[in-house]
Amino acid sequence: MARRKKTRSTTSRGKGARTRRATAKKPQDAIALLKADHRQVEGWFEDFQSSRSATRKRDLATKICAALEAHTTIEEEIFYPAFLEATEEKDIHHEAEVEHDGAKKLIAEIEKAGPDDDYFDARISVLSEMIKHHVREEEKRDGMLAKARQADMDLQALGQQLASRKAQLMGEAQSEDDERPAQSRRGTSQGSERALQARATRRLRGE
Ligand SMILES: [Fe+2]
Ligand SMILES: [Fe+2]
Repeated sequence: MARRKKTRSTTSRGKGARTRRATAKKPQDAIALLKADHRQVEGWFEDFQSSRSATRKRDLATKICAALEAHTTIEEEIFYPAFLEATEEKDIHHEAEVEHDGAKKLIAEIEKAGPDDDYFDARISVLSEMIKHHVREEEKRDGMLAKARQADMDLQALGQQLASRKAQLMGEAQSEDDERPAQSRRGTSQGSERALQARATRRLRGE
């Protein structure tokens, strides 16, 4: 969409438009990206708790599991190692990894048992508590994200790496699940999100 406007914004009229576009497209630094992921999942957990519809709950669980899988992967592959190298804060790093392991086990159980399982709501509820605790630890005043902000880390470059790995993970999920040739929307975040959700839905249904 922005591409189409480009030709017109090269005139003097386009100065404001350029600024607006630059602001809108400004890449997130690593901390902003990770926090945005946290807020998104928190919102879905809240919706899950207040929902009475089984279908809605299943959809939300699907989104939550897919988002957490991508989030924990990009943290473990990119952000956590960079944090450990820059700060040598082993305790914080190791604790975060162990918390991820616990969450991932529960996610696997949720996906395996599916939404018809008697323990489905209980598992989502416990997952929510685990994630709440983990996010609080990451975001607290002397937690990982605050220490990363103080450390000598290139948060802008890391943000780009996180974003591109996230897009790649979503692309992989898409090609895994969608045996049809990639559609024209391939690579868009909307399409990728749908692909991840499709994969998790299949798992939740035991397909
Ligand atoms: Fe996180
Ligand atoms: Fe984390």
